[in-house]
Amino acid sequence: MAKIRAKISGIHAWVPPYILTNKELESMVETSDEWIVSRTGIHERHILKGEGLGTSDMGAEAVRGLLKKTGTKPEEIELMICATVTPDMLFPATANIISDKVGIKNAFSFDINAACSGLLYSLVTASKFIESGTYKKVIVVGADKMSSITDYTNRETCVLFGDAAGAILLEPTTEEVGIMDSILQTDGSGRVHLHMKAGGSVKPSSHETIDAKEHFIYQEGQPVFKFAVTKMADVAAEIMERNKLSSHDIAYLVPHQANLRIIEATARRMGVEKEQVMINIERYGNTTSGTIPLCLWEWENKLKKGDNIIIAAFGGGFTWGSIWVKWAY
Ligand code: UT7
Repeated sequence: MAKIRAKISGIHAWVPPYILTNKELESMVETSDEWIVSRTGIHERHILKGEGLGTSDMGAEAVRGLLKKTGTKPEEIELMICATVTPDMLFPATANIISDKVGIKNAFSFDINAACSGLLYSLVTASKFIESGTYKKVIVVGADKMSSITDYTNRETCVLFGDAAGAILLEPTTEEVGIMDSILQTDGSGRVHLHMKAGGSVKPSSHETIDAKEHFIYQEGQPVFKFAVTKMADVAAEIMERNKLSSHDIAYLVPHQANLRIIEATARRMGVEKEQVMINIERYGNTTSGTIPLCLWEWENKLKKGDNIIIAAFGGGFTWGSIWVKWAY
């Protein structure tokens, strides 16, 4: 019997309308457009404004668009996975809330917390359900309202992050397309450099944790940068080598968008040209689980069936990984 693979059969994304520019940030913290652009490549990011709106609202927008454009009924979806580090609430899973908001009633759903590699972890997990032959329609959402955990008095982090959501439909195929190979890795000792200090079981929320601003992203930029540059490039190179892919075989590199300098280092290591790299960090910043679907969505019209795509990410945890995808449409 022919091998069943998971193919990406649709992609959609959604960003909130409010745009926070570097200029506006200059009026909030001691920073400059020149510093932000030269150190990160970011010019602006989208922020979700509005009382009572959270990650699930962005995720639901992305899923509604995906269902519409792929002609899929919500009842047909059998599994929904949401990658996020900014769930609506600690429990239940944001995936459950998105499913409820869009009318997905015949599925089971859960969240994956792998920070900026969450979308990769979720795609690989979802692909295994498809490859088993038992699941036919699975949605993976990558959604984060990073503005909800960003301290807008801390210039070291507030210039980096934005809000966004993307949704990907996976279906089975026996053709030579889809998710071809993957490498996922974790090093929990890296948590000291990137985490949120309070609000979990070790340090539940209290007046003290709020006063100490411990419900925001804590990041030591330089060590994270060093690991990100090495690990993301290593893993992207490894997946190419073990599948005997040269830079000429690659249509696109889709890197997690945390810093333009990290993206450029990864591209150099893979030997791919700038035109082969999906980059939109300048307009969205780092949207954590949203970066990869945002890229695929913006480049969707340029992609052709059979295109080899290497997706690579690095993030909090530490988590990192790479996937080789053959585009299916
Ligand atoms: O997606 C999850 C994984 N995260 C990442 O991959 C992020 C990895 N890290 C980075 O991208 C970079 O380390 C940052 C963009 C966060 C920082 O860039 P950097 O080139 O590593 O800067 P730095 O932290 O070494 O800071 C250099 C200087 C410092 O001043 P002094 O000590 O030299 O006087 C900072 O205080 O820049 C200062 N600085 C700023 N200045 C203006 C830090 N943030 C700002 C700012 N505006 N927003």
